[in-house]
Amino acid sequence: MGSNGEGKPDSGLSSLMLETEAFLTRLITLKPPAPSDPIVRKLNSNEIQSMQHQIMPDDHPQDLPSVIQQAMTVFDNRMRLTHPHCFSYIPACPSSLARLGDLLTSVYNVNAVSWDVSSGPSAVEKAMIAWLGAQLGMPESVGGCFVSGGSMANMAAIIAARDEMLNPRERGNAVIYMSDQTHISISKALHMTGFLDYQIHKIPTDDNFRIDVSMLRHAIDTDRKSGLLPFLLVANCGTTNTGSIDPLGSLADVAQDEKLWLHVDGAYGASIALSDKHRYLIDGIGRADSVSWDGHKWLFQTYGCGIVLTRHPGSLLRSFAIDAEYISGVLAPQGTTNFYNLGPELSRPARAMSLWLTLRTLGRHRMGEMIDQGFILARTADYNIRRYKNWVVMAPTVSSTVVFRYTVREFDEEELDALNKAISQRLLAENIAAILTTKIRGRTTLRMCMMNPLVMPETIDHVISQLDKVAQSELHNTYPKVAKMTPYCQECPRVDILQDVQ
Ligand SMILES: Cc1ncc(COP(=O)(O)O)c(C=O)c1O
Repeated sequence: MGSNGEGKPDSGLSSLMLETEAFLTRLITLKPPAPSDPIVRKLNSNEIQSMQHQIMPDDHPQDLPSVIQQAMTVFDNRMRLTHPHCFSYIPACPSSLARLGDLLTSVYNVNAVSWDVSSGPSAVEKAMIAWLGAQLGMPESVGGCFVSGGSMANMAAIIAARDEMLNPRERGNAVIYMSDQTHISISKALHMTGFLDYQIHKIPTDDNFRIDVSMLRHAIDTDRKSGLLPFLLVANCGTTNTGSIDPLGSLADVAQDEKLWLHVDGAYGASIALSDKHRYLIDGIGRADSVSWDGHKWLFQTYGCGIVLTRHPGSLLRSFAIDAEYISGVLAPQGTTNFYNLGPELSRPARAMSLWLTLRTLGRHRMGEMIDQGFILARTADYNIRRYKNWVVMAPTVSSTVVFRYTVREFDEEELDALNKAISQRLLAENIAAILTTKIRGRTTLRMCMMNPLVMPETIDHVISQLDKVAQSELHNTYPKVAKMTPYCQECPRVDILQDVQ
């Protein structure tokens, strides 16, 4: 290892060195929020205006401690995704190691554009791509690169698929298949890459929110007969709505039979590959032509860590390789490729470093256990929700997401939508939990995504009991007449997967 001596510190900082050191230590070892801390703090429109007024840079310098103080006030206005009662979106819960890796990456500020500028971090990135691909069961020839997140990974893969599979003149006739549960980033990427809505064929999902494979086969057949050109099949490995996982092996068979490029959006669920207990859920993922995977979701990284992997690195090269006079003389060592030729970016941070540092320190086994904790929490939530009256679990709980709805017999669907929305809003307003809503089959539904490895099942028990109290109180306050009637309890069959927690 070389020396890390980088000369004297910036003179502006030297007088603040001690304070800064203490401050940095505090930041890296930041304690997770306590349950009583606000889950969300947000500025109203007046506060937004006044904050913008106060923080605007002007002609004169300001002393660093007071600017840092301002920065802390700015950051205070946020949703605390690591709060133990925050279950919204797909909450990033970075480990301290990821924060440290991120800090190191910023301090060294290597431009991971090419081997000449970044041979160390590029070697790590290449090793990480090989390691991550192997975890998914992809062949040794796997290639890819780190990008800013799942959206960019999906886009890079779609560009590679388009360029590999289609003659430019055929693009207007091409068709893309995906389920009705597919993340918006796929449609966004398809639009950015020049495809129009009529080319996106959304296939319905079954009761488990998995793509209906026979309908898919039928759609491909019909499209071919009408002269269209099926070329890309997008599969979900962990949908954002329910956490469902498409039958990846069957989709790989369809792709093989129909000669389609299979892209798996594993932004959320590809991490399951690191869990010894649950890896079987994503069997078949390694047969994909390309996979996207987010470190800042279920690999406990800070934001800006996405990965695109493909068994055809030549396709990425075909789409992204370009030379300019000022770098054309720069050659990667034998058998390696400059990363700027494998993805859309030129200058970029060494994004692989913090994931590498985390995995190298913890080891895959520990990381897998941290992922397993999400499964335990979700099953605990599912089990508890079914124990209370009037609650219906809206989809099988297969990974770390649970969707459920408060259901009162006397209400029509619109009233139930309003009631569930009100429950979500009250939970947040009273700082009980961030359990936001989504739409499942068009109906407003509460949704919990549990990724925080520091949260214990007892916390989930407590949150669900509070949730039920809020639902009952909301019913009493808003609809006292209905609340007096005997509540309706919909029988919900238990799913087998719950056996683990009983
Ligand atoms: C399944 C899935 N794919 C892709 C994305 C997009 O990822 P990012 O927000 O990192 O761009 C998300 C984001 O939540 C997601 O859940």
